[in-house]
Amino acid sequence: MKYFSGITLITLLFSPAWLYASQDFSSEIENRQAAFTAIEKYNEQIEEILDQSDSDWVLLEKRSAELVELSNSLTRLFPSGSAENSKAKENIWKNSDDFNKKLSVMQSHYSALEQGIKSKDKSAAEKALKQVNSTCRSCHRSYRSRW
Ligand code: HEC
Repeated sequence: MKYFSGITLITLLFSPAWLYASQDFSSEIENRQAAFTAIEKYNEQIEEILDQSDSDWVLLEKRSAELVELSNSLTRLFPSGSAENSKAKENIWKNSDDFNKKLSVMQSHYSALEQGIKSKDKSAAEKALKQVNSTCRSCHRSYRSRW
């Protein structure tokens, strides 16, 4: 009996906290914004290195692997209802098929970038980077608010 009421008390004490925790998307928001910031920075770095005649392939490989990981991580960083306190628009979850498709197009161009860099094929890498960069604006136009 004593044991039972202890459990009940614990349940009562903790359930509001669990409810609150399930609504708090601040870590997903922080992580996706950090991922996008890194994506922008690494893209520029890769572009610069590819422009050099004596490119640092070791750094290119490292960065492109990181970009594959960062862009893949975005798949789980847009939980439904996480627009508040971020620049993500609500229509991400209304048009989730379209949003997810745009995300996966970006991810596949990053895989192509990584492949091009692994085989030290500059023109393939440059082409993939160009394709990656064409996905940014098309998604932002529909799914990122300006303020
Ligand atoms: C599938 C959609 C999508 C694609 C593709 C996409 N973005 Fe975004 N991006 C967003 C959304 C949504 C936000 C707002 C995120 C938030 O505020 O939580 C954002 C935010 C950002 C931010 C601001 C981060 C911050 O700290 O507020 C940067 C920088 C950025 N994106 C760069 C890029 C670049 C560079 C690319 C292309 C290589 C890209 N994005 C591709 C949807 C996308």
